[in-house]
Amino acid sequence: PTCERYAVRRLPFGRLADGDVAFFERLLPGRVVTGEEEVKPFNVDWLKSVRGCSQLVLKPQTTAEVSQILRYCHERNLAVSPQGGNTGLVGGSVPVFDEIILSTALMNQIISFDKVSGILVCQAGCVLERLSEYLEEQGFIMPLDLGAKGSCHIGGNVATNAGGLRLLRYGSLRGTVLGLEVVLADGSALDCLTSLRKDNTGYDLKQLFIGSEGTLGVITAVSILCPQKPKAVNVAFLGCQSFAKVLETFTTCRAMLGEILSAYEFMDEKCMELVETHLKLSSPVAGSPFYVLIETSGSNSTHDEEKLNSFLEQAMASGLVTDGTVATDDKKIKVLWSLRERITEALTHEGYVYKYDISLPVGKLYDLVTDMRARLGQSAKNVVGYGHLGDGNLHLNITAESYSHSLLDAIEPFVYEWTARCSGSISAEHGLGFKKRQFIQYSKPREAVVLMQQFKAMLDPKGILNPYKTLPERSTC
Ligand code: FAD
Ligand code: MLT
Ligand code: ZN
Repeated sequence: PTCERYAVRRLPFGRLADGDVAFFERLLPGRVVTGEEEVKPFNVDWLKSVRGCSQLVLKPQTTAEVSQILRYCHERNLAVSPQGGNTGLVGGSVPVFDEIILSTALMNQIISFDKVSGILVCQAGCVLERLSEYLEEQGFIMPLDLGAKGSCHIGGNVATNAGGLRLLRYGSLRGTVLGLEVVLADGSALDCLTSLRKDNTGYDLKQLFIGSEGTLGVITAVSILCPQKPKAVNVAFLGCQSFAKVLETFTTCRAMLGEILSAYEFMDEKCMELVETHLKLSSPVAGSPFYVLIETSGSNSTHDEEKLNSFLEQAMASGLVTDGTVATDDKKIKVLWSLRERITEALTHEGYVYKYDISLPVGKLYDLVTDMRARLGQSAKNVVGYGHLGDGNLHLNITAESYSHSLLDAIEPFVYEWTARCSGSISAEHGLGFKKRQFIQYSKPREAVVLMQQFKAMLDPKGILNPYKTLPERSTC
């Protein structure tokens, strides 16, 4: 069969036979999911925009079981789609055809936590929010946070190299992940699960798997460096009259808040309209074309509040900011964060969402939204912009009542050409998955793509791991 919208052909993998299911049932008693209805939620992505037709979900609990699964699949030439919390936004976490789904849902054990170093070692299927709760009880936090925290797994976060709301402060997972355990396509386990801040013994192999979106190996355990829980957290939610003022506010707040700045997020008025309409959230700040959320995290509340207040006074006095509110208690902080974090959810109420996740020089971040709005006119329901401004990361989202090929043609490749002209990235943090893989050349030279394909061929010669994802079809290179 061919997947029509994307015109993809099934590769010649083996087909699941009764003997295969019997083998897995012996290996994972009670942890094999079959039956169309039971498998359905694993076949559909979070956005409900792509759908596979797998007949089998496997839920291993140990690395040894993952090894045995992959050894068997490798021998039988059966394709496998690794899946964590299935919150990915580029169609990478669900099968395209009948790939077996290897779910990390039951690999949810914390292995160790060292309170002196702040290093956490855990299995890949731990839910991010559970890890955060566990750490907070001990005075630490995870170095990453995202709106999908209640469902996403740390293994999925590492596999996508998720960015999120704390990257500005704690950096990318490429810096905070210290070690990984990975099972390769042939079932062999690679133990790079070290907990060292420094280790220059040859190539840093774990980096290959961070952001590899399940195409090079299955991540089974993660060692990650966690910061101390800040003693004082403040959030300011502010209204700005133009994007130029959003940028100037960023410059000012970086200068005045310095080391305590931990997030600088922005959203346009359309986003605010959507969270208010669809989620019934109400904002204490209204009537502005742009909103920014500024978070500070520090160790001395008096000092931090003083700094924040003098920044706010200056921002108001100079007209950078026209309205705003500040939260110091947990409850109000959560309310303000949800206005920004829940935009993704609000958008799904609109109908179909065309999602773009772009890195750009920060000064040009909103020009893409304006240009796209002008280009699409009435053919789109909404064109909105929000994102991690402090990281130069725009989330451009276009909504319509339902999917339409002509609207897609109006958006792509325009959006990618626009991004490439600015030397941006067509995927800042979500990955390429199934939806974006054919556009990799807008952000990577041919030589880099060829080298990636060589790595893939070396680590997964039969191509059984998450086929049709991340790398383009060979013919395009
Ligand atoms: P899945 O969706 O299950 O999988 C994602 C990819 O990783 C797939 O290719 C899959 O095959 C692979 N994979 C999963 N587990 C493994 C494993 N153990 N080994 C190998 N490969 C694996 N992303 C950001 O970067 N920043 C954000 O701020 C952000 N916010 C989000 C908010 C919402 C509401 C939602 C729905 C998503 C958001 N995302 C964000 C998308 C983000 O990619 C995911 O939320 C998260 O990182 C994926 O984790 P997951 O466990 O759900 O992985
Ligand atoms: C976010 O920053 O909210 C996430 O990356 C999800 C999205 O892009 O909608
Ligand atoms: Zn994001």
